[in-house]
Amino acid sequence: MLIHSASQLLTLTGGPQRGKALGSLGVIENGAVVMREERIVAVGTTDELRNAYPDEPTLDAGRCVLMPGFVDPHTHLIWAGDRANEFEMKMSGTPYLDILAAGGGILSTVKATRTASIETLMAETRPRMLRMFRHGTTTAEAKTGYGLQTSTELRLLKALIALNDESPLELAFTFLGAHAIAPEYREDPQAYADEVANTMLPMLKEWWETHAPRHSPPFVDVFCETKAFTLEQSRQILTRARSLGFPLKIHADEFDNLGGASLAAEMNAASADHLVVTSDADIEALGRSDTVAVALPCTPFGLAESHYTPAKKLLDANAMLAIATDCNPGTSWNESMQFAIALACRYMKLTPAQAIAAATINAAHAIRRADSVGSIEAGKQADMLILSVNDYRQIGYRYGTNLVKHIIKRGQVYSVDVGYYRTA
Ligand code: NIG
Ligand code: FE
Repeated sequence: MLIHSASQLLTLTGGPQRGKALGSLGVIENGAVVMREERIVAVGTTDELRNAYPDEPTLDAGRCVLMPGFVDPHTHLIWAGDRANEFEMKMSGTPYLDILAAGGGILSTVKATRTASIETLMAETRPRMLRMFRHGTTTAEAKTGYGLQTSTELRLLKALIALNDESPLELAFTFLGAHAIAPEYREDPQAYADEVANTMLPMLKEWWETHAPRHSPPFVDVFCETKAFTLEQSRQILTRARSLGFPLKIHADEFDNLGGASLAAEMNAASADHLVVTSDADIEALGRSDTVAVALPCTPFGLAESHYTPAKKLLDANAMLAIATDCNPGTSWNESMQFAIALACRYMKLTPAQAIAAATINAAHAIRRADSVGSIEAGKQADMLILSVNDYRQIGYRYGTNLVKHIIKRGQVYSVDVGYYRTA
């Protein structure tokens, strides 16, 4: 199929974008793309590709923006229940970490998740995935982390694998058994860190080899934070994960600076995420590394806090910056990368072009999939969006409504518009 007459085709070619190179969209005016089956086979202007592929079936992009599907590289997609009550408490002044320390927060979702069947977990997660997809996310990372015991953590992975198989939204899996100290280990957090490193990770490896041999191994992530895992415990868990062959991620500097970002850089993690209170030394370390700095602007927004990831400092240090939704029931229940972009522009002072690159090619690199998704190039997966606007700067400028009109995932075209209709 030949998709033609895009006002602006944003190709994002050239690989992940470091430091001040962020924002190179590779725009082709009056652009066109040819795709066959799951893949992109040609990219150019409408005139060029119409001449080269005269017999191809066509789809008219209608003078709209054509761009890569969004990649959301940090979500806690699977959980049971909700925490609307805690939102009310937070808005009345109780801090997030105090709610966690009192057995709420992550731990209240853990309680609901442990008792949920795999069917319930899948049924509650499906509509979230559909909303993500409708808002233009064609690939998303998805973490476990609301089980904090081997049986539930593996049930979450099993559910995520099944959801990935049934849905056009493609998932990259992450094991986050170290999301919080399990309630059983409240008095002895080190024993839980030992349990994750010495028992859960080896079991995960064995389970993955028998249950998911066709998927590449999941990332292993740790919440390095006061009242969660110390820097030393994070190092212990990530070191064990690396020795078992898992790629790494880390939650660092969301509330307190413990040095997690430097640890990620030192251990060659795929990404270090949150990075709100990151020190200058940590930023320098990220800038010298291949670890992507993933900012989660929906999280301070969701918590009504005023500090955001210092994007300018990261870019000055030559870091690779990506953005994600952090979709989770506690701090950021939001499925839209368009909204993450709107916040990144306002609070991290990114231009729309920078935020778009952070939400596509750099986000793909944060889950180590930049060779297959995140840009529009011959040979890559045909994952694209046709928006309802003709100028990419409308993305970020406008927010709270969905600008996606068509989603193309692995060459299949899906439509968002239903128009007005009456049921009776
Ligand atoms: O990324 N920081 C830890 N995890 C999530 C919050 C999870 C929750 O509150 O349920 C986050 O913000
Ligand atoms: Fe998170």
